[in-house]
Amino acid sequence: MAQRQRLIVGNWKMHKTISEARDFVAHLAGLLPKSPHVEIVLAPPFTALSAVADAIKSLPIGLSAQDVHWEDHGAFTGEVSPLMIKDLGCRYVIVGHSERRRHFGETDAMVNKKVAAVLRHGLRPILCVGETGEQRANGQTERVLSGQLTDALAGVGKEQAADVVVAYEPVWAIGSGQPATAEQARDAHRHIRARATALWGQDAGARLPVLYGGSVTPDNIGAFLALREVDGALVGGACLDPTQFVKILAVAHTNP
Ligand code: 13P
Repeated sequence: MAQRQRLIVGNWKMHKTISEARDFVAHLAGLLPKSPHVEIVLAPPFTALSAVADAIKSLPIGLSAQDVHWEDHGAFTGEVSPLMIKDLGCRYVIVGHSERRRHFGETDAMVNKKVAAVLRHGLRPILCVGETGEQRANGQTERVLSGQLTDALAGVGKEQAADVVVAYEPVWAIGSGQPATAEQARDAHRHIRARATALWGQDAGARLPVLYGGSVTPDNIGAFLALREVDGALVGGACLDPTQFVKILAVAHTNP
């Protein structure tokens, strides 16, 4: 069977100074599995993007920002624009992470503007969607995912679809040590792909990379990647230690 292309993204969240970031990449460089079918992306905080861009220059690693503003420039104190992200060498931007939605009041309408801005600059949004524990308990998971996708992707045409990545990150699974079961992930990923197919048609829907995120570890990543519906992972806590992260990459490498 042909090897499938995997995308493994390490979201550092608010962790690592510049020197810690450099140490991480130096350590990782010595351990990287050679794997043409696993695309590796690091998402350091804004402050470490430049240093990491420099450190990964000769390595098969891509760069992502964790957030972005939708305007190119202007009076938006504290914000960072897509132009600036691109200039740093980023190819990806995480958009609509539940921590941004929850702690910083990011709405679906804001997420939509960010997705549009990221695509306009030729960058790839990693659009995060996911239900809370309460929404799941109330049987609202699919409705929540549909709503988030419809709103965030409003105005994104078929011709832009190839640049979009979606990450299914159930809010209750993030940082909880309680990942989704394989069945929950499979059902949610199928639903996400069905929405994408409804939006963009069969081909674009089938090609959309859908990542799983939420308490991913070296021990459980294999079960997610074994699913036909899962194209990769968005990893938080377990990506901060290079040894752990490499174990995750190694599983992705050996998983057909
Ligand atoms: P954890 O892997 O720490 O649960 O975080 C997942 C996440 O939010 C990645 O974006």
